[in-house]
Amino acid sequence: MHMTELTTERLRLRPFRTDDAGALNRINSRSEVMRYIGKPVETIRNTEDYLRESVLADYSKYGFGRHAVIEQHSGELIGFCGLKYLPDLDEVDIGYRLHPDYWGLGYATEAGQATMKFGREKLGLSRIIGIAMDENTASIEVLKKLGLKPDGRVNHLGTECARFLWQA
Ligand SMILES: CC(C)(COP(=O)(O)OP(=O)(O)OC[C@H]1O[C@@H](n2cnc3c(N)ncnc32)[C@H](O)[C@@H]1OP(=O)(O)O)[C@@H](O)C(=O)NCCC(=O)NCCS
Repeated sequence: MHMTELTTERLRLRPFRTDDAGALNRINSRSEVMRYIGKPVETIRNTEDYLRESVLADYSKYGFGRHAVIEQHSGELIGFCGLKYLPDLDEVDIGYRLHPDYWGLGYATEAGQATMKFGREKLGLSRIIGIAMDENTASIEVLKKLGLKPDGRVNHLGTECARFLWQA
């Protein structure tokens, strides 16, 4: 298991626990957060299942997965940022999702930079991809700031998306 805590100037990125379901559900249940991703998650129980079956399962299968993002000064869980192995593409993907109260503060870029460093240095990755719908300007801006470059198209969860790539 390679999941370690990462610290940035304003944030702490730590492994998720199942008791984060309430805090994460306040983010995943909002339609503006899920606008370019899918349907809002309905219940805390659904989010708990997602944590157990996806995030925590990734930690044990692959040794890494998405990190919880904690704002240092408030101690609040404000979203996630992290890497995920995608078996269908045989690639590692960087993803992020924040509560709207915390958008526009540079937090996704800050968390993403620490995540890229973790992927490069701790996991020894030489490729990291990003996937976003064309309309998701904020996400695409973050991918570019993290050094990923446009790399064609990909069909992801039934939607045609833009694919980005960082390569060592
Ligand atoms: C994508 C997301 C995480 C960005 O978070 P954020 O912390 O607001 O991003 P940052 O503040 O680091 O912004 C990075 C850049 O994107 C730009 N940006 C942010 N939101 C934008 C928007 N709505 N439209 C256009 N540009 C935007 C910023 O201007 C910034 O560039 P700058 O520093 O040169 O000004 C956030 O919007 C989010 O959670 N969205 C919903 C979930 C989602 O779609 N995740 C990605 C799925 S692919």
